[in-house]
Amino acid sequence: MTKKTLLSGVKPTGRPHIGNYFGAMRQFVELLNSGDYSCYFFIADYHALNFIQNAEEMRRNTLDLAIDYLAIGLDPKKAVLFKQSDISAHTELCWIFDTLVTVPYLMRAHAFKDAEAKGKEVNVGTFNYPVLMAADILLYDTDVVPVGQDQKQHVEYARDIAQKFNNAFGGRTSEGCTFKLPEPKILESVATVPGIDGRKMSKSYGNTIPLFASREEIEKAVMSIVTDSSGELPANVYNIHKLFRSEEELKPLYEANKGKYANLKKALIEDIDAFIKPLREHRAELAKNEKKVHEVLAAGAERANAIASKKLEVVKKTIGVK
Ligand code: TYM
Repeated sequence: MTKKTLLSGVKPTGRPHIGNYFGAMRQFVELLNSGDYSCYFFIADYHALNFIQNAEEMRRNTLDLAIDYLAIGLDPKKAVLFKQSDISAHTELCWIFDTLVTVPYLMRAHAFKDAEAKGKEVNVGTFNYPVLMAADILLYDTDVVPVGQDQKQHVEYARDIAQKFNNAFGGRTSEGCTFKLPEPKILESVATVPGIDGRKMSKSYGNTIPLFASREEIEKAVMSIVTDSSGELPANVYNIHKLFRSEEELKPLYEANKGKYANLKKALIEDIDAFIKPLREHRAELAKNEKKVHEVLAAGAERANAIASKKLEVVKKTIGVK
């Protein structure tokens, strides 16, 4: 029986935070280890180019994210780990999709609407973001895309674009339609992990707790969690705490420490540190051997390219340029 295909990516825009981890990356590891899927995990460096225009920073972030992937337990023997820009089929397929997708349709994307609402001058890369993402997903005949809630619309765009292509070109190959329709996989309880100010945890809000944070960084972040004394319990502390401990365990702790925010924050610091410490130490070991990390990405690129270029050939025949 052939396994289902699973794919997901993360942008190398800086250190991943616990929102990225609980919302998406932890699922990557669990689903990989389930043995039920053929897995592809990549570094979305061309998507990150919308935010980073500094070669040194891009190189550093990309390598760091590859180390992060290995440190959380993505085994390159079991999964294909690669960098988006190494596979030129992604941008080539993006162009092909560009010719099918309309401007009003892309104007409905949340990320574009948010940028516009903030009065930002939106570049074409940001406008086109969902189309490149559709190419990322559809090139590998992906069945399942594990992501946080904020990426749900993007996976829906990928489905729509697959359907549009299949309809436009008859889309028939000997195996069926050209593109499979992917499904998002979102864990409801961690679909949107809150940050230290209660809003969605996000690098752009500066409200994150880094996944590989030092003890000092954890202390600083937790001490600056915004507390609100109006409710039964300090919701912003509690909502982060429940990522690390079950609610049954937390209830007596919060009951015994009503109004004692300093105690609760101390307990949270200990719990986060106990969780992060082994990850941090494992990461520090892996970071000593950058050559090995480059080798992992090179081997991953070769494997990804074999699949992606074959798929692009099919697409090129279907649209009549081959
Ligand atoms: P990125 O790099 O912004 O985020 C990586 C993953 O982390 C999830 N996430 C969260 N989940 C829960 N709570 C939060 N506060 C939180 N913040 C981030 C995101 O939902 C995401 O799953 N566009 C993607 C990268 C990408 C991609 C793809 C993903 C490019 N091509 C193809 C899947 C398939 C992104 O910017 O993720």
